[in-house]
Parts: sequence; structure tokens; C-alpha cells
Amino acid sequence: MTTVDPRPRTPAGLRFPRGFRWGTATAAYQIEGAATEDGRTPSIWDTFSHTPGRVSGGDTGDVATDHYHRMREDVALMKRLGVSDYRFSVAWPRVQPTGRGPAVQKGLDFYRRLADALLEAGIRPVATLYHWDLPQELEDAGGWPRRETAEHFAAYASLTAQALGDRVATWTTLNEPWCAAFLGYSSGEHAPGRTSPAAALRAAHHLNLAHGLGVGALRAALPAPAEVSLTLNLHAVRPLTDSAADRDAARRIDALGNRIFLDPVFHGRLPEDLVRDTAPLTDWSFVRDGDLRTVSAPIDSLGVNYYAPTVVAAGSSARPSPWPAAEGHVRFPRLPGPRTAMDWPVDADGLHGLLTGLRDELPGVPLLVTENGAAYEDHVDPRGRVRDTERIAYLRTHLAAVHRAIADGADVRGYFLWSLLDNFEWAHGYSKRFGIVHVDFATQRRTPKDSARWYAEVVARGELPGEAAAVQ
Ligand code: FCB
Repeated sequence: MTTVDPRPRTPAGLRFPRGFRWGTATAAYQIEGAATEDGRTPSIWDTFSHTPGRVSGGDTGDVATDHYHRMREDVALMKRLGVSDYRFSVAWPRVQPTGRGPAVQKGLDFYRRLADALLEAGIRPVATLYHWDLPQELEDAGGWPRRETAEHFAAYASLTAQALGDRVATWTTLNEPWCAAFLGYSSGEHAPGRTSPAAALRAAHHLNLAHGLGVGALRAALPAPAEVSLTLNLHAVRPLTDSAADRDAARRIDALGNRIFLDPVFHGRLPEDLVRDTAPLTDWSFVRDGDLRTVSAPIDSLGVNYYAPTVVAAGSSARPSPWPAAEGHVRFPRLPGPRTAMDWPVDADGLHGLLTGLRDELPGVPLLVTENGAAYEDHVDPRGRVRDTERIAYLRTHLAAVHRAIADGADVRGYFLWSLLDNFEWAHGYSKRFGIVHVDFATQRRTPKDSARWYAEVVARGELPGEAAAVQ
């Protein structure tokens, strides 16, 4: 005789290490609004979003989630979530409007008040200096393909750290320089919208240089225990098959997507195969003696942003593309399986693979997952509830992957959920919702989604609940 257990099995919860940092993440242009207030000048994203046809729906960050005026309400939301950390970015054109010269006190004061409100709420502020909002004046002078931009960045890092260093102990130089260089200057999907693959390679080097010079500036300005980091959107690259051609396609994308940053930053060298692959576009003579030593200044941790894997095969892809010199060699096949509203595949193994790969490649470097999350079509139901079960499922599998990576020896110190709020999702405008707090953009009303309650419970317990708890 068989008996049926009416209750689903409840695997034990997955406990995270003591002291694990639980956070949420945002970025200045995506949430702040107040685009012309208190001396802020346009960034490349203001210009880009105001250019017809660049952003879905003609959306701009002029108002965004109005966080500049609602900062205290948003900190209170995080306090209720119980997070230990909050990752935000400083808007360069708000604190140093022309990208050069003296700081604007009012701009710095906003971040001082934010840091104070966080500290009062028991939340550790984690500041990113560059999340893509280059002052337009610096773009007009040549942007990231121009070396001087890296030097200006170091001066901006210095004045910002001097102003906030007594309150903010964790600093990230750049967020996802891959996107800034290749979506900004090669495919043109992001600001400033240029389509020059050669310029994008120069931009990548100057972003690396900005990082290295920025590390020096931060160390000089901050008290000794400060933590200095870099966040990369590393690509979990997978060849479609084991054929030599597909594996070579994967090697190319790994060079252009990952090693172009990892090798200079951690090993002080440029990948040889990258230089070979891109020879039709550049001889890399813009890399000057000593640059790679500057770029490889030691850092205290590496931030990893992960959303979806990158599956590649031999073939060709359309131009303009974000992959300089690879278009004739690589295609990106579409695989079956679940997808988010961004049309990105859902695959938590990619995150586990990235973290364990870094365990092997960069022993001794602590890791932080500085972004992970998903966009879905969310609706506030008549009872005022947002039942975002798909997002909870996404978060659960990805947090389980982080847990598994830790169990496998990866030194992962924290997880920052993207994002606290629905916000301006770059070229998609307000059409893609990544928040665990719903924002009604007409009224600016914030409504925590079911995922916010779920995350608060995970954070409070320091543990991912077993299956039964997760599906309630
Ligand atoms: C990352 C960005 C972040 C957000 C997420 C969805 O590439 O760093 O600002 O837009 O994607």
C-alpha cells in the first residue's frame, strides 16, 4: 500500500555565513531625478535620453523615482527590509558639474545626508563613483576614448572621497565598464550612443586606467581601513557545443567581455589573444608605459554583477555590435527555456560557475555579488498587492547558487539585490521593472512587492527558506 504525504517535502533552509552582507542596489541616474537641481548639469544619459528614438517611450531620468526628494522614505523602506548594506552611486555631474574643477557643496551634501540616514538606520553605505553618468562636457571633450577623462575621474574620486570618507567605508570605482565602453561606444545602445568599435577599445583601456588612478586617489583620501573595489558584469560564457569553432568563439567573447578587465586589473597585462583578435581595429598604442602597473593597483574585493549566461557559437552577428572585431566570428544562439521580461534567459548555474571560476582564478580576492535580480511584468492587484512569484523564484534559485558557490569554496561576502525600486532601466526607460518595491511613476507611490517581504525574511534569518516556505 502506498501512502500520500499531503505536505510537500521541506528541505532544510540554506544558511549563509555569519556577517554575510545583505543589500539592495540602485544607481543615481536611474532613481534620483532632480536633473537640473542644485547645480547638477547634464550627463551623457540626460543628452541621450532627450534624443528622440534612443530610449523606449521617450522616457528620461528627469524625475525618475524622485529619490533626490524622497531619500528618507527610501531609507525607511530599506530599514524595514532589514538589509545590512545599500549600494548607491554618486552622480558625477551633481558633485562636479563640468567634470573638472571644484565640487558643488549642495551635491555633496545630498550624499552626506544619505550616508547619515543610512548609518542612523544601521545600514552600511556602499558608494559607486561611476555608474555611467559622465558629465556631458567631458564627452564633448572626447569622452572615455580620450585619456584625460581617466585623469578627471581620479580628481573626482579624490574630492568625493574627501567629502564622504568619514561616513562611507566601502567604495567602488566603476560599475560595469564593459557596458560603458561597448554599449556606449560600439553598439551605441547606451549613452553616448557612438558606434565606433575602435573608440570602444580605447574607452575600455581608459576606463581601466580610471579605475587604477581612482584606486590611488581613494587610498590617498580615505582612512586606512576603507574597502576599495571594482564591479564588473562578468560574462558567464558558454560555447554552444564542444566543437573547436564554438570554443574559439567562446574564447573571443571571454577575452572581450571578461579578460579585457580582469587581466589588466589583477595581473597588470593585456590578454595576448585580445590584442591579436582586435589587430584589424587598433594596435593598442594608446596604452602607455606604466599604465598597466597603475591599473593593477591592489583592491580589496571584486564586485560581480550577474543576470544571465552568454551562450556563443561560431558564426556571424549584426553590426553595430558591442563586440569589436568579433562580429564575423561569433553568433549568439537563442536557447529554449524560461526568460525574464528583459528576454534574458533564467539560469542560476551561470552565477555559480562565475563565482567558482573566480575562486580558482583570483584566489584571495573576496567577492561580492553587487547586482542580481530580474524584471517581470508586475501589477498592483485591487488589494494593493504585487504578487511577483516569478521574481521570488528567480531570487531563490540565484541565492541558492551563491550558497552553493560558498559551500564550494568561493569567498563570497555579500549579495546586493538589483533593485530596491522600479526605476529608469536605461534604453528601456520605465518599461522594465526590476524593483522589489513597486513604484507608480505617476504618483511616486512605493508599494513593497511580495518579493520585498520574502527578501526581508531571508535577510532576517540569514537563511534561504526551504521549498515549502518559499511557495507559500
Ligand atoms: C546592469 C546595470 C544596472 C541595471 C541592471 C539591470 O547592467 O548595472 O544599472 O540596469 O543591469
